Amino acid sequence: MDLPMFRDETQEWNHALLLYDSALKEIDTKLQILRNEFKVEHKYNPIEHITSRIKSLESIAKKVRKDQRELTVENIVKYVNDVAGIRVICSFTSDIYRIADAIANQSDVNVLKVKDFIMNPKPNGYRSYHMIVSIPIFLSDKVTETKVEIQIRTIAMDFWASLEHKIYYKFEGHAPEHIREELRVCSEITATLDKKMRDLNEEVKRISNPNGYVDSLYGKANIINEEYYGIIVEDIEEDIVEE
Ligand code: GTP
Ligand code: MG
Repeated sequence: MDLPMFRDETQEWNHALLLYDSALKEIDTKLQILRNEFKVEHKYNPIEHITSRIKSLESIAKKVRKDQRELTVENIVKYVNDVAGIRVICSFTSDIYRIADAIANQSDVNVLKVKDFIMNPKPNGYRSYHMIVSIPIFLSDKVTETKVEIQIRTIAMDFWASLEHKIYYKFEGHAPEHIREELRVCSEITATLDKKMRDLNEEVKRISNPNGYVDSLYGKANIINEEYYGIIVEDIEEDIVEE
């Protein structure tokens, strides 16, 4: 897409896109490493799947104009936090916080903003954990801190958000009240489902692991922290779907 204000800035925008694409790759690799670590060390996979996307120029332009700013590369880089976005889908709410902490604690990750819509769901019922982070991207002659929005949610939260998103666009943001109310009810149901699945998981662990011990791959017994480790699952190979 060619926007008029961009004509003189094409090179600058291509450079920014290179940085965002690299930042997505960096964060994706970090998540894959964490996933592999958990699989190897605990035979447990906290991540169901990961998707990532670069925001379309059209959506970026809409956002910049909504904030009444001129559409320049400088303004995009400064004010649009989600040009690079990655979504991590977990099985259980506890996995969300575990992944978020593990990413936030890495020394090259700079956490700029956190929004916990699980502790504080949006009035429409939206639940998810959002982090805006920056990470350094090393090019041949310089290092540039680059922002990525990370959204972490359970399968149930993701199911709700994708339906809500479709409804939102269908009615151009003005869905009838009874539909909005139904969505709020569904959001409560997803929260209840997440809690029930967590309790079920805890119960399975308790029965299959009465002493709270599990053999690691190396045959060493590791204590399982009830809060932190979920059901021991078989390896599941997932593909990363680029949106
Ligand atoms: P924007 O909403 O993106 O302008 O920025 P913000 O600062 O308000 O960010 P926020 O954390 O509220 O939302 C960022 C992203 O989360 C959105 O682009 C969506 O992908 C997702 N999101 C936020 N609220 C909702 C919601 O009510 N429904 C759905 N389906 N997704 C949402
Ligand atoms: Mg928003």
